[in-house]
Amino acid sequence: MRVVLVGPPGAGKGTQAKRLADQFGLKHLSSGDILRAEKASGSDLGKTLAQYMDAGQLVPDDVVVGVMAKAVGQYAEQGLLLDGFPRTVPQAKSLDEQLDKQGTPLDVVAVIEVPDDKIVNRICGRRSCPECGAIYHVEFLKPAKPGECDKCGYKGEFEQRGDDTEQVVRQRLSTYHAQTAPVIEYYKQVSPGKIETFDGDQAPDAVTAEMVQRLQAKQA
Ligand code: AP5
Repeated sequence: MRVVLVGPPGAGKGTQAKRLADQFGLKHLSSGDILRAEKASGSDLGKTLAQYMDAGQLVPDDVVVGVMAKAVGQYAEQGLLLDGFPRTVPQAKSLDEQLDKQGTPLDVVAVIEVPDDKIVNRICGRRSCPECGAIYHVEFLKPAKPGECDKCGYKGEFEQRGDDTEQVVRQRLSTYHAQTAPVIEYYKQVSPGKIETFDGDQAPDAVTAEMVQRLQAKQA
């Protein structure tokens, strides 16, 4: 199965993607994680990426498509969960072209909806495990034992992303409405039967349960 996850910053794409990838045996590819790793490497490309990411703007399409096409080509056959890509209509068209050429088309476009007024709180309270990347929230999704990762057992401080400030989140949200919401309209036109919309404004476990149930139905 090949699934694209679309939703505003803080919709819960990363949270749900990790759970769904485990449940369905899919390769989770997060464009944000891949770009952040390049940024952290300090390479020339990473320095260029930082200018866009730290300002809450999208990285240019040609750069992202180049980075993602390689990974998509490698894992499309075994099953993919794409998180954060595609994020513009040109990216969506390029992904469709690549997958069609490979004979591995998309099966589901999963749209997670969350009202704008919930986003800032979700993003500013996000923390993640520096060892395994597990995602928490200071209020909504705490680890079972304070300061200890449920997933890998790491003990210590959790990390906060550099672009998770209120000012940058507001810019990311406006970028989402201007450049990513049209991706949903694109898929409504070219593949209406593949779109599944989820209410992301409920507890994380409730969102997961609904997604698992509907993806299983698609798979059957
Ligand atoms: P990226 O890393 O993709 O960030 P994003 O889309 O802004 O999404 P987030 O990772 O912030 O949120 P999420 O939906 O994954 O939410 P999460 O599960 O963590 O992109 C970062 C940057 O990279 C972009 O700004 C851009 O510059 C660049 N980039 C990336 N892809 C690109 C592309 N294709 N083209 C161009 N540029 C690109 O949850 C958030 C918080 O809420 C967590 O604390 C979580 O615990 C909590 N939470 C989750 N679910 C719930 C729930 N149901 N109820 C309450 N709290 C919840």
